[in-house]
Amino acid sequence: MTLAQRQPHTILITGGAGFIGSNFVHYWCNHYPGDRVIVLDALTYAGNLNNLTDLDTRPNFRFVKGNICDRPLVSQLLTEEAIDTVVHFAAESHVDRSILGPDAFIQTNVVGTFTLLESFRHHWVERGKPEGDRFLHISTDEVYGSLGSTDSAFNERTAYAPNSPYSASKAGSDHLVRAYFHTYGMPTLITNCSNNYGPYHFPEKLIPLMCINILLGKPLPVYGDGQNIRDWLYVEDHCSALDRVLHHSPPGETYTIGGNNEVKNIDLVTMICNLMDELSPELPVHPAKQLITFVKDRPGHDRRYAIDSTKLRTQLNWQPSVTLEEGLRRTVQWYLTNSNWWQPLLSEEYQAYYKTVYT
Ligand code: NAD
Ligand code: TYD
Repeated sequence: MTLAQRQPHTILITGGAGFIGSNFVHYWCNHYPGDRVIVLDALTYAGNLNNLTDLDTRPNFRFVKGNICDRPLVSQLLTEEAIDTVVHFAAESHVDRSILGPDAFIQTNVVGTFTLLESFRHHWVERGKPEGDRFLHISTDEVYGSLGSTDSAFNERTAYAPNSPYSASKAGSDHLVRAYFHTYGMPTLITNCSNNYGPYHFPEKLIPLMCINILLGKPLPVYGDGQNIRDWLYVEDHCSALDRVLHHSPPGETYTIGGNNEVKNIDLVTMICNLMDELSPELPVHPAKQLITFVKDRPGHDRRYAIDSTKLRTQLNWQPSVTLEEGLRRTVQWYLTNSNWWQPLLSEEYQAYYKTVYT
């Protein structure tokens, strides 16, 4: 299918003011300017309208502040906008916050996903079950639990074994999405992606936290022995994978998405320090790696995640285009250039959260 042959779509993007959601909104608006894009986002602490500023003037774009658990609102939006595609990012997404308070995770990730599914099911039936409709649920590799150092990477057949309230709530939502395909024939899709990084990443997550603390000359808290491994994917590559899934996958499929970039946390933090030293000659503490501080481990901290993306590569012809070295360089540069984006996020609420986790 060429771009010229493609029919325009009307897409509801939930959580489009968050990190990955906003990157996806930018990606989609750039690649498919003829599509109508509706963002539904509750603007929790992690949602930020500054992630979408340049889209305000775009025709075919609408932002709606609202909660995915609000069924009348969701149903009304689906109908009045004649939505044919849902891309569902909205979630509580931070493991450390799920340990401190799991309630919001169950509410948004499980009940919210159920609410969206049920609303979309009625909408889809009322419209005569159009063949091209899709409900794409964005999930995480954390549903598969933790790998040992010699275990094979996760793939679409790996059994679920979530270990944190966050990953358990995401696992619950994945099961609901799967059930809606098998029970009702609803055209759902699920993607389970590894750790993303890039612009608009909220300061509480590892990579932005390290970038910002280096710029402020604050300690760089590395949990436990720093030997935990994550598989990092540049966020734009995640967006291109979702694009391929939406355009080329039959309904009912699941795909694992990864960057093939397994790195120990301590090595990643050291890479960020070195890049900061190179790109910013006026750091408060130089070389930045002097700031690395090992701190008490996260409870139930998964040791290793790794993803086998063979299905996505062979069936949908996708592969990541940004190396870890290049992606980190772009990301570090972005945090250096955009202090006016991240400064306001270091609010009193954030400081209180930081104190609870790190002291
Ligand atoms: P994020 O925390 O940056 O953004 C979440 C967004 O959802 C925010 O804009 C927030 O306001 C919105 N939101 C939260 N609760 C809501 C509700 N009840 N109703 C409406 N909006 C609500 O998260 P992210 O890192 O961009 O992750 C997006 C999705 O991708 C999540 O589903 C997450 O599980 C998944 N995921 C994330 C990663 C990662 O590395 N960040 C990796 C794999 C999968
Ligand atoms: P994070 O960005 O929270 O993602 P996730 O827990 O979803 O993988 O953390 C990535 C890794 O970095 C994880 O192993 C925990 C570790 N980490 C630290 O060592 N220090 C920190 O301050 C944070 C936030 C994370």
